[in-house]
Amino acid sequence: MYNEIDITKIDTAQEPPLAEPERQYYFMAKCREWTDAFAKEHGRRPQACVVNMGCQMNARDSEKLTGILEEVGYETVSDEHADFVIYNTCTVRDNANQKVYGRLGFLHSLKKKNPGMRIALCGCMMQEPSVVEKLKKSYRFVNLIFGTHNIYKFAELLFCSLESEEMVIDIWKDTDKIVEDLPAERKYFFKSGVNIMFGCNNFCSYCIVPYVRGRERSRKPQDILREIEKLAADGVVEIMLLGQNVNSYGKNLEMPVTFAELLREAAKIDGIQRIRFMTSHPKDLSDELIQAMKELPKVCHHMHLPLQSGSSRLLKIMNRRYTKEQYLRLVEKLREAIPDISLTTDIIVGFPGETEEDFQETLDVVRKVRYDSAFTFIYSKRTGTPAAAMENQVPEDVVKERFDRLLKEVQAISKETSSRFEGQTVPVLVEQINEQDPDLVTGRLGNNLLVHFPGTEELIGKIVNVTLTESKGFYYLGELEGN
Ligand code: SAH
Ligand code: SF4
Ligand code: F3S
Repeated sequence: MYNEIDITKIDTAQEPPLAEPERQYYFMAKCREWTDAFAKEHGRRPQACVVNMGCQMNARDSEKLTGILEEVGYETVSDEHADFVIYNTCTVRDNANQKVYGRLGFLHSLKKKNPGMRIALCGCMMQEPSVVEKLKKSYRFVNLIFGTHNIYKFAELLFCSLESEEMVIDIWKDTDKIVEDLPAERKYFFKSGVNIMFGCNNFCSYCIVPYVRGRERSRKPQDILREIEKLAADGVVEIMLLGQNVNSYGKNLEMPVTFAELLREAAKIDGIQRIRFMTSHPKDLSDELIQAMKELPKVCHHMHLPLQSGSSRLLKIMNRRYTKEQYLRLVEKLREAIPDISLTTDIIVGFPGETEEDFQETLDVVRKVRYDSAFTFIYSKRTGTPAAAMENQVPEDVVKERFDRLLKEVQAISKETSSRFEGQTVPVLVEQINEQDPDLVTGRLGNNLLVHFPGTEELIGKIVNVTLTESKGFYYLGELEGN
């Protein structure tokens, strides 16, 4: 959809242009020649598989990779038995890293059977120098490695690696650059993520994201709105505005704009029926945003508001810059303004020095807020973050026991909370045929819960009214209104 530049018209005999995104379109044309030659030789187009391992921001990056691969003539598949496999990695917790090493072993076995296969790695984990050292030493079969800051250069790097027998590595420490107007493919034709900012400046003491994603950079509102207008023209009805901390959007722009102002502009775009956003940091959540959410019918009544811990003492050491009381007050304000709002959260158990009293504070917040759902994580030590150097790490068995207690509490509450819409008729965006029963379709409520109800393929991508007949705890069964 961003193919404003027709790559078949590019003269690849010339030197590559220096300006972006023109330079990348030039390399897309070069890659296209490569895939055409492949197709001629093998009687089929080469296949590519993009595997996303991270958060929504990574997922959006994966769509950009897919967009470029399709533009240059790869057939994209979900099976790793492909000619080109790229893992878009995450490193927020150590188990994410372990998964990559495990799966690389599997890819190596596939490559032995298909020596022409090419393997690429990108994303947050590649921004860690120790990871790249390990790959260079023990994973020589990987063809291409790049990081988060130069992902816009994917076409150029891909071409470079197609032409080379050596491992191609390009990692930047940081960037202040945002390259607009590159192709992107969408997983769903009716909904899309939209990056509004990149990076993070918060440096929560446990978190590696600021180190691997760099400093906070906001896209210009006109670029974001132009992208949303194009998506709407292309049939998208739901957008999710993405950033590590959307509440601080626009602060570093030449002409500062608030997130609430951006929401108001986005809501004016015809065709867009639903707007979501993620993630909100409690410290920057303004009254202006609450007001905008209340007034704008397109904005979903759902807020993901990571708590991390209920202990003000730990929140301080975590560098979260709010207290338990401030967080609870915020929840109160949200519920006063938007009574049916669904709240979800992230919680870390076992942060260094966490005592039973600290943990009880977390349970207390969980009981008071009664989240619709909560992602619970065991603290994972990330080398290079301040928390990793703290001496009082909590023993594994203590953490595990607390984690189990928290999970039980969270699940019991969320089962009750999420059933509160039973009997109501609500708008639902139909996303797919039900995975277990082909006579049902699956749709998403404004609050992000799923409902399964009798329906057919034609409903996919439409917003319809569904009566929620039965709550199953974390999802509903329903009936299409009027049926
Ligand atoms: N920017 C978002 C979070 C991005 S990371 C925010 O601030 O809300 C997603 C979640 O991973 C975090 O909310 C946190 O709960 C969890 N997380 C981050 N670092 C972690 C670590 N070292 N160990 C365990 N969980 C972690
Ligand atoms: Fe990590 Fe904190 Fe930034 Fe979220 S706000 S990405 S938890 S440093
Ligand atoms: Fe993971 Fe990077 Fe997202 S570390 S959580 S993929 S920003």
